[in-house]
Amino acid sequence: MSATRRRPLVSGNWKMHKDHLETIHACSELGLRLGRDESAAVDVSIHPPFTDLRSAQSVIEAEGVPVSLGAQNCASADSGAFTGEVSAVMLARLRVEYVIVGHSERRAMFGEDDEVVAAKLRAVFRNGMVPICCVGEDAAERDAGQTADRLQAQVRAAIGDLPGGDVARMVIAYEPVWAIGAGEPATPDDAQQAAATIRSEVAEVAGAPAAAGLRILYGGSVGPDSAVPLASVSDIDGLLVGGASLDPGAFTEIVKGVATTLR
Ligand code: PGA
Repeated sequence: MSATRRRPLVSGNWKMHKDHLETIHACSELGLRLGRDESAAVDVSIHPPFTDLRSAQSVIEAEGVPVSLGAQNCASADSGAFTGEVSAVMLARLRVEYVIVGHSERRAMFGEDDEVVAAKLRAVFRNGMVPICCVGEDAAERDAGQTADRLQAQVRAAIGDLPGGDVARMVIAYEPVWAIGAGEPATPDDAQQAAATIRSEVAEVAGAPAAAGLRILYGGSVGPDSAVPLASVSDIDGLLVGGASLDPGAFTEIVKGVATTLR
């Protein structure tokens, strides 16, 4: 199913770290470290907190930093009386290109169910951006042998009746909940198996061309040492990096590793 290589994507999820001054510094440093070789081979996005996006956008554009701007979440509505929310319309105005939806921390701590995730995903598309939709089983589901069932249900609920052309452009991040922040990622074999399950479910729901075009990332305790083996398996097209993306040196090492291997 993955005869042709899709263009790799390495995304840095900063979570609730770095204020806008630290963001300016980190973006400048990425600009010094990342060169043309990397941007020719791999797409890179960084996902700072909402309050940092404007600062990040300014540095990226002024200094020509070869990364795309990303967000970690958005509202499902485009505007309205939703105190404390940030809409996809607002993100698009800041030239955000990628928006993470359905991260397991949002599902677990902020009550986002499959229906909410699907609505947010559609808000991202409606506003011309690319969703990175997170799916993954938790430790209890893994131990009960329910990984495939869980992934299929999450994928089906997220992409439902979306047109195949949209699905082909989107990104799904396989993030086993037990590996996030744990210090130990899934093995490349396990990540491949999960990614293959996701891709065949996409084929069933949205058709073979959508499944062939869609990029699947692995996320969960990715570091400079595990990045290349994980990104090298056939159904994984890149990485969603949390903790290690906060250090521009470590993040650059991951990007360079993927760029060199998958060029
Ligand atoms: P981690 O986080 O790399 O720190 O495990 C990944 C994520 O939650 O996206």
